[in-house]
Amino acid sequence: MSASRRARPGCTPFCFRTPPGLRVRPARSAASLSGACPPRTPTAPRTGTRSEGTPMAESPLTAARFTPRLPGPATRVTLPDGSRPWVVSRYADVRTVLSDPRFSADDQRPGFPRIISLPPAPGWLSFLRMDPPRHTVLRRTLTAHFTVRRSETLRPEVERVTDGLLDAMAESGPPADLVECFALPLPSLVICRLLGVPYEDHPMFQEHSRNITATDIPQETALASADRMERYFAELLAARHARPGDDLISLVLAQQKAAAVTDEEIIAMARLMLVAGHGTMADMIGMSVLTLLREPERAEELRAAPELLRPAVEELMRYLSVVRNAITRVATADVRLSDTVVAAGEGVIVELCGANHDGEVFPEPGRFDPHRDPRGHVGFGYGIHQCIGQALARVELQVALGGLLRRFPGLRLAAVPEEIVIHDQAVVAGPNTLPVTW
Ligand code: HEM
Repeated sequence: MSASRRARPGCTPFCFRTPPGLRVRPARSAASLSGACPPRTPTAPRTGTRSEGTPMAESPLTAARFTPRLPGPATRVTLPDGSRPWVVSRYADVRTVLSDPRFSADDQRPGFPRIISLPPAPGWLSFLRMDPPRHTVLRRTLTAHFTVRRSETLRPEVERVTDGLLDAMAESGPPADLVECFALPLPSLVICRLLGVPYEDHPMFQEHSRNITATDIPQETALASADRMERYFAELLAARHARPGDDLISLVLAQQKAAAVTDEEIIAMARLMLVAGHGTMADMIGMSVLTLLREPERAEELRAAPELLRPAVEELMRYLSVVRNAITRVATADVRLSDTVVAAGEGVIVELCGANHDGEVFPEPGRFDPHRDPRGHVGFGYGIHQCIGQALARVELQVALGGLLRRFPGLRLAAVPEEIVIHDQAVVAGPNTLPVTW
């Protein structure tokens, strides 16, 4: 790490401010930070599938007892609780399910597919699992903070964080685990900054976020993590009530009266942002780097023509479709899809991966081609629940991949690709570790 970037005493390595009134763990010393990757979160190792072939073949969700589909007719699957929702994977069908108001995102309705281990307590996943009008009210309190323009204003800060992490990686390596040194800490630092939570707490929330979205852990573990996060954010909210800052939670609090939002709803929104905003990003950065290192001529092309980064990120979103099996709905009326009728009360799992690999919409879908026009992909979802953080995610991905390729011209995998394990027991696919050298 360059001298100018060394952490000042009492400061996190990237000098994110500590939110007012919040308990702070002692910052790690500058000496322990320079030249060292952030410590690994002490969680149980994830199981997964070895990476082979196309993104489809890389992610059979074996333990979830169903498999991501290539585009095809709607089919039924059996979930661990014995229920038999539909899996929908054609582009047109996916867009219908995600935009037709006869499909509900309310996980309290009977028939809603249960994928994750966490039992569906009302409001727990905030507006992600709500329908209008409450979905509209809650989402609206955040939209102004995630516009393209607002996200672009964060670019310099994302660049600064990226440079700091790459400096540390250069000093400590090679080799390095790219997930541990880069893919995970970058989005964690950014979301901590946005929410105003101390980065020192990231091992705690990484572990609990992972448990909250896991499909293969005991319910009690998922519930214990949910409780822990509940207490953490309750404490945070109390601190913001006492002393507001310039973070997202304080900005939502400022609208609390006008929008008639309860404290519990704000806590749930903060938790949703934290869970949605760092794990998915980390997996997407990891999978993108893996893709580029497996196609070195593509990485070289992006190094030579950085203007290709933006379309490349869009194409990676389509090609990788890292969100797998997380998108669920229940029909509130009988609805005809192209080749079947989903009856009222039946659950639906939407395969974004299938839609993004539908050859009728994206020719040669199994080929990663940064020169194609992948507009219309559904990697960030579609309809009223489309990802609120997508503009920020694009900034993070462009900065992360651009910075990494520039800084390490000789970057390559330090393991045979087939040995890299993709965790597929979660709702988002990503590498457990990504050994690289340069
Ligand atoms: C590459 C990274 C990301 C991917 C692939 C991704 C993907 C998605 C997808 C597919 C949905 C739709 C869920 C549904 O229809 O049920 C979604 C929703 C959401 N995402 Fe993201 N996301 C990413 C990054 C982020 C970030 C950085 C944030 C926050 C800072 C975020 C916050 C959210 C929230 C709050 C929702 C719920 C929106 C709603 O229900 O109205 N995401 N995301």
